[in-house]
Amino acid sequence: MATQLRAGDPADTTPLSAIDVSDPLLYAHDSWRPWFARLRAEAPVHFQPNSPFGPYWSVCSHADIQAVEARPDIFSSSHEFGGITIVDLMGEFNLPQFIAMDRPRHGEQRRVITPSFGPSEIQRMAMEVRARTAELLDTLPYGERFDWVEKVSIELTTGMLAILFDFPWADRHLLTLWSDWGGDIEKALNPETNLVRHQHMLDMTHYLDRLMAERKALPPTADLISLMAHSDAMGDMPFQERTGNYILLIVGGNDTTRNSMSGAAHAFHQYPGEWAKLIADPARIPAAVPEIIRWQTPLAHMRRTCLEDTEVGGKAMKKGDKVVLWYISGNRDESVFPDAERLDIDRPNARRHLAFGFGVHRCVGARLAELQLQVLFEEMLKRKMTVRVVGEPDYVPQSFVHGYRKLPVVIDRHG
Ligand code: HEM
Repeated sequence: MATQLRAGDPADTTPLSAIDVSDPLLYAHDSWRPWFARLRAEAPVHFQPNSPFGPYWSVCSHADIQAVEARPDIFSSSHEFGGITIVDLMGEFNLPQFIAMDRPRHGEQRRVITPSFGPSEIQRMAMEVRARTAELLDTLPYGERFDWVEKVSIELTTGMLAILFDFPWADRHLLTLWSDWGGDIEKALNPETNLVRHQHMLDMTHYLDRLMAERKALPPTADLISLMAHSDAMGDMPFQERTGNYILLIVGGNDTTRNSMSGAAHAFHQYPGEWAKLIADPARIPAAVPEIIRWQTPLAHMRRTCLEDTEVGGKAMKKGDKVVLWYISGNRDESVFPDAERLDIDRPNARRHLAFGFGVHRCVGARLAELQLQVLFEEMLKRKMTVRVVGEPDYVPQSFVHGYRKLPVVIDRHG
């Protein structure tokens, strides 16, 4: 077993062999930065033989992460080998979903849902997203403490998903529930909570199956359910594959966008000069959006499995090895993003961030996530809202979803 790392442990002198960046405590305590800085400097491709998730390679530099993602024929995403997170989900819990498939099936299914994220759809959704965002912001108090995660990040992303699925509005909170259970790898690891998780996944599948059947009987529309229902590649999937793809679309859009909104509030609080730039000139918002996503990196990693003996950054890997791509580290790589910890809305290359991944699996929802953030900032500025963090953030204690459980804030009205 690798030594359990503790917040306050010396990242600079701990033996490299003891460094296990999958340790949930690093994320619970927001103390991951020096550990990745050490790995980037001394072992950008690092092997940890004894983690609770089994042996795994860490790929920590921006260039090496891209190099791995550029070779999907060697570095598989397939659920057959354990899928796309550091946890090897097994048996009935290891669901086929297109993010965890390789060519050709991956491409066939990805193509089904991409029209939902095309320019005309994004434009159509923009109006609805703006209306829902404005409605929500108008309910928020000035000068009173509340939890930004609960009142803003969760509400807005759940609303966005409901729009994308054309999901019954009154039931939209089910999307949050399913996403919270489906995306939590710690809950999947514990046999007791995994059973509860499994029940939620069943409930989700039954609910969405009903919607699929209804949409199949109607003329096709551009919402995700209708696109799947009317397609060859996804219209008649086996039960497990339906569950897998439903949860992919829900978790994919939910935790990620939620945590970029929470990260935004926290980042602008820490770098008030950047928010002041937006107050002075809201036209700069589109440049700020990718920088916020880089800074937060809502998914800390994706995982691949070697299909043959290979090499990354000079390190020899064996067929079957687990390879973890730490986006959270690549996005702090100083050789690409100087002064990487700083939020800098003028950063010329913020769009090179890896938070959406890279290559054939790059996030299909990227434009929608960006739209949601852009509209949020625009509507906040219209209402002269500046967010102040007034207590300790409560961080998600795991190494996949990187974000916040709670973020206490007060909204001030700026001049
Ligand atoms: C800031 C918000 C978001 C972040 C940081 C994010 C991040 C990611 C990442 C890292 C991947 C995997 C890329 C790879 O393996 O190279 C991914 C894939 C994916 N994302 Fe997102 N995502 C976000 C928003 C969304 C939204 C709004 C949706 C809409 C439902 C979505 C749906 C998906 C899907 C379906 C995939 C699988 C793509 C494939 O395998 O071809 N994501 N996302």
